[in-house]
Amino acid sequence: MSFNQLAQMGKMSVPYLDLDAHHAHRKSEFLAAIERVIDSGAFAGGAEVERFEEDFAVYCQSRYSMGVGSGTEALALALAAFGIGHGDEVITVSMSFIATAEAISAVGAKPVFVDIDETTFCLDPKQLEKALTSATKAIIPVHLFGQCADMNPINAFAQAHDLIVIEDAAQAHGAEYHGARAGSMGDAGCFSFYPGKNLGAFGEAGAVTTDREDIGERIQMLRDHGQTRKYYHDEIGSNGRMDGIQAAVLAIKLRSLDEGNRLRRNCAALYDEALRGIDSLKLPTSQRAEEHVRHIYPIRTTERSAVISAFQKANIGFGIHYPVPIHLQKAYAYLGYKVGDFPISEQCAEEFLSLPMYPELTSEQVRSVVETLEAVFS
Ligand SMILES: Cc1ncc(COP(=O)(O)O)c(C=O)c1O
Repeated sequence: MSFNQLAQMGKMSVPYLDLDAHHAHRKSEFLAAIERVIDSGAFAGGAEVERFEEDFAVYCQSRYSMGVGSGTEALALALAAFGIGHGDEVITVSMSFIATAEAISAVGAKPVFVDIDETTFCLDPKQLEKALTSATKAIIPVHLFGQCADMNPINAFAQAHDLIVIEDAAQAHGAEYHGARAGSMGDAGCFSFYPGKNLGAFGEAGAVTTDREDIGERIQMLRDHGQTRKYYHDEIGSNGRMDGIQAAVLAIKLRSLDEGNRLRRNCAALYDEALRGIDSLKLPTSQRAEEHVRHIYPIRTTERSAVISAFQKANIGFGIHYPVPIHLQKAYAYLGYKVGDFPISEQCAEEFLSLPMYPELTSEQVRSVVETLEAVFS
């Protein structure tokens, strides 16, 4: 049973995520948009997708945006568009959702992991040098939890070594780094519109942003079976198109993304203020609070099991992002990494606990999460 269903049944006082609350007041607008797609018959690609792509490119301060089937696909298509494949290495972080590494593997390249910075939870640029080899072709910094990675030193390193930078902005719609939008700072930016994201579809969807016309055109071709003309295939591509219905829904939601991000920042500020006094908790920090879009609010605690028990008793939802860093996942055992290789990622994996976070989270709900935590640590 989902958190939403439990919440509806009154069994969960604070769900981890509340998509019902997020959608309820705009249901008729969504239904009208879906009806428009049904009437047009443009279910895969088409005018709604093109319209959303234009809006999203403007929002991300990028020249082009290409709608695709998911965030994982966005990353794989971006890598493929830059010609990255067998024999190439791509540096990324071990503390991310596995999709970041899966996309590298999907194009036949090898993920090479580095540790995160303990304050931002994003790629630590100081770790890049020792991960660099003659096979390195690209870096994928992940804007984890809604905060941008430290892009200036990452881009400087990439430039010095002739590497491509692909931002994994799946958790960072609207986040900024010294005024530059997530997705506009690397050679390409990749977004997920999985329903629980800050900008979420009604199913699977993703997008790639770029300023490079040639890369935009290549992604358009690769996502459509490598064809530029129907049934004439210049390259081996795949089916990576965005659905018309997802585009129509996303175009509506994009209009309120900034407001949603602002409300998330308010919730984070309430947590910050109320939890500051609990010495045994480490709270997430932001480099510049107004640029963080608070997709996830992860506290760190060595008493995670006790907190989880208390949350379960109080019917409070939670998440763990992520319990096992990618270098220690069974799927990547063949790479030969071992415990101790990335100590910050490993420590965080043991201590992270994500608190409920969504724009509609009320101050009473925050209070109830805080009181439960206070009771555990009193
Ligand atoms: C950091 C990160 N990268 C990539 C992805 C993959 O996106 P999708 O689930 O849309 O394939 C996600 C989604 O959860 C993510 O959080």
